[in-house]
Amino acid sequence: NKGNYEHYMQKEIHEQPESLKTTMRGRLIRGGSCKAKTVLLGGLKDHFKTIRRSRRIVFIGCGTSYNAALAARPILEELSGVPVTMEIASDLLDRQGPIYREDTAVFVSQSGETADTLHALEYALENGALCVGITNTVGSAIARHTHCGVHINAGAEIGVASTKAYTSQIVVMAMLALAIGGDSITSQTRREAIIDGLFDLPNKVREVLKLDQEMKDLAKLLIAEQSLLVFGRGYNYATALEGALKVKEVALMHSEGMLAGEMKHGPLALVDENLTIIVIATRDSCFSKQQSVIQQLHARKGRLIVMCSKGDAVSACPGGFGRVIEVPQVEDCLQPVINIVPLQLLAYHLTVLRGYNVDQPRNLAKSVTTQ
Ligand code: UD1
Ligand code: BG6
Repeated sequence: NKGNYEHYMQKEIHEQPESLKTTMRGRLIRGGSCKAKTVLLGGLKDHFKTIRRSRRIVFIGCGTSYNAALAARPILEELSGVPVTMEIASDLLDRQGPIYREDTAVFVSQSGETADTLHALEYALENGALCVGITNTVGSAIARHTHCGVHINAGAEIGVASTKAYTSQIVVMAMLALAIGGDSITSQTRREAIIDGLFDLPNKVREVLKLDQEMKDLAKLLIAEQSLLVFGRGYNYATALEGALKVKEVALMHSEGMLAGEMKHGPLALVDENLTIIVIATRDSCFSKQQSVIQQLHARKGRLIVMCSKGDAVSACPGGFGRVIEVPQVEDCLQPVINIVPLQLLAYHLTVLRGYNVDQPRNLAKSVTTQ
């Protein structure tokens, strides 16, 4: 049921304040006057000891689910103290890459039925790793075959392009990082700031959704572009990949997400006055590096769209060149949840304006059950 919306993708984008609430329900504990703020993930409580002792945590997934894991990687590295590596399921299988008994392998999948991810799970089970699932579908193959896991509880997702599952996956993995981090004193202030940030996140998502009309206007300007690049780094490298994936899969426009740190090692050659580039430059420890990326892209006459924190337009885009998308600022590791929303809206409006099928893009399936 699409309710008042024209398409499922549109409904699912706008539903995110509620889906995120459902994802967190019963899992965030505010604590009383003397009790600490904590996270409770029922499905993992008997396994944290093993996870903390593992030699590394390996995230495995495909498409949007892989991007969600990439978005959560920095906070997991920071709070868990365990090395975190990333695997695209098909690539792990192609290489028969190393998976050890001492590994915790985390399988991220909205449907819980993706063939590549499921085969990678069988492979990791054979190799003796602890296998953890992060899925949206109770009773799915991945939920059944993993040793333990977390249901993201985002509600059914119908649009082929994943939107609300992506933000709920990131939130679950941020909670996973908090839970693995346990109650170490050194990171207590940081953990409490993240928990406060999680409580307030649905409100902040509601606020960023107000950019809907602005993104529709931007889509009108971009409707005939040949190509769209998205540059991000740090916490928002994943946002660049996921924003570009949305644009290519539904709006059928060539789009690439790129690590801004790699700009000079190739992509810069593409930049001229005909190329539109979105640069994600919200405030975090990478901000000054992004300011310099913006300067260099401007010097090569790239057509810039800068995503920055509210009130930060002048620092992010001095001289007023380019267009600015201002988003509410949240705790750095949660910022990917906010920053993807305008890009989801942009992909949605581009698709409608270009006259393509939003919910069933050509050649794609919601759940890819063949290899
Ligand atoms: C569970 C209940 C929830 C109830 C809550 C109350 C289910 C599905 N969930 O939620 O209805 O309100 O307790 O305490 O009944 N699992 C995997 N692999 C996965 C995902 C999950 O093995 O990919 C396992 C978990 O380890 C756990 C079970 O499935 O044993 C349920 O997981 P989850 O729904 O996340 O647990 P709770 O949040 O505790
Ligand atoms: C398909 C979908 O390619 O599978 C994508 O079209 C999705 O939207 C990908 O990200 C992975 O799916 P899942 O269900 O494993 O998260």
